[in-house]
Amino acid sequence: MEDKYFIEGGHSLNGTVVVSGSKNASLPILVASLLTSDRSVVSRVPYLADVDNMLKMLSEIGAQISYQDHQVIVQARELQARGQLFQFAKTMRASFLLMGALLARNGSGCLPLPGGCAIGARPVNLHLKGLARLGAEIEIDKGMVAVSAKRLRGCEICLDFPSVGATENIIMAATCAQGITTLVNAAAEPEIVDLACFLNQMGARVTGAGSPVVQIEGGRPLHGAVHSVIPDRIEAGTYMLAAVAAGGQIKLKQVIPEHLRVVIDKLREAGVDVDEGTGELFVQAPRDLSPLIIATAPHPGFPTDMQPQFTALLATAGGTSRITETVFENRFLYVQELCRMGACIESSGDTIIIRGIKSFKPAQVKVTDLRAGAALTIAALGAWGETEIDCIYHLDRGYEDLEDKLSGLGARIRRVAEQAANL
Ligand code: UD1
Repeated sequence: MEDKYFIEGGHSLNGTVVVSGSKNASLPILVASLLTSDRSVVSRVPYLADVDNMLKMLSEIGAQISYQDHQVIVQARELQARGQLFQFAKTMRASFLLMGALLARNGSGCLPLPGGCAIGARPVNLHLKGLARLGAEIEIDKGMVAVSAKRLRGCEICLDFPSVGATENIIMAATCAQGITTLVNAAAEPEIVDLACFLNQMGARVTGAGSPVVQIEGGRPLHGAVHSVIPDRIEAGTYMLAAVAAGGQIKLKQVIPEHLRVVIDKLREAGVDVDEGTGELFVQAPRDLSPLIIATAPHPGFPTDMQPQFTALLATAGGTSRITETVFENRFLYVQELCRMGACIESSGDTIIIRGIKSFKPAQVKVTDLRAGAALTIAALGAWGETEIDCIYHLDRGYEDLEDKLSGLGARIRRVAEQAANL
């Protein structure tokens, strides 16, 4: 049974929203907790389908888990892949992060190759090249990847592209390699810094995280750690844009403005009033929105995970905007859904041209992936009339309490189970 949203647009958003812990930081940190047989405590872990799936995998691999009040207590006395691990792993690309941890702790690991997904092919060649440089042997057969090593040895690894997942996998494996690993052209996202912070609390020595060169001194004994996950910058950015699209004025609490630097700069360039406080952001929608030129890039560049939401926002700006996607090869699937709502967008290769319309018209639209869902929600909030958004399970993967948070700001949003909706 699939749920859908009905959103009646045209109501401004006002009030305060508390930002949840970061999904993309929680997932690798939970995996990193497997690197020791001790107990770790991770707090501010959001209730999301992706987190739930990851916890099921950790449990299938032998970890004991408790999850209450956003706090996960995890202890993996020994690791052994079993049961439904492979079934869960196939459904989520982040499952491949388990490879670095399995290799480091057990000397071997076997996982399904993550398939492509709606936004692109998303191979794991960079993960595997890095693990091979550390001394792992890799075999790929019938969609399964088996990795093993008698001993991992620190070395210099230069990534062809600063992949977030590859950086995380390699850092985790390198904490258990003998000697120093230097990772060049590493991803520098805040979630990498949070992972390094957790690993260092476990006793690892990871330096340079957040810059393109990360050093890992391997072979140090790792123990349990207590950690609170950073706020979700993409969730925060999504609410900022929702407030601008719907009109109104909101305050975001428990946010790190520095993590949203480019998003804030782009909003200001479009005419939005953004004020920064300590752990807080204030956003006020302007009367008129100016068009923008945006190109996505690895951090500290413009985040690809905010690209669809900006398209939805700029669709009603006063002029022509241009967005180029450089990180994923197929991240414009949602454009045709926005066009069903009246948007005027032309695609040409990795670039879209957005000609501003007056306002969105309600329609029945379908979510193709997580951030596409965020874009359609933003469009619906700004449309006059009721929009039906189908396949919202994608949104459940990455937005905690979305309808409650939006309702709290004054949005008219209902979740309806498909069977009931058909009656
Ligand atoms: C992570 C985020 C995702 C975000 C993305 C880019 C998580 C759980 N997900 O995904 O929300 O959109 O970073 O900021 O943290 N690539 C290769 N070979 C590889 C690995 C990646 O070619 O071995 C390519 C991918 O196909 C993609 C690009 O590199 O085109 C970026 O991927 P990557 O940075 O690895 O993203 P993820 O870690 O999957």
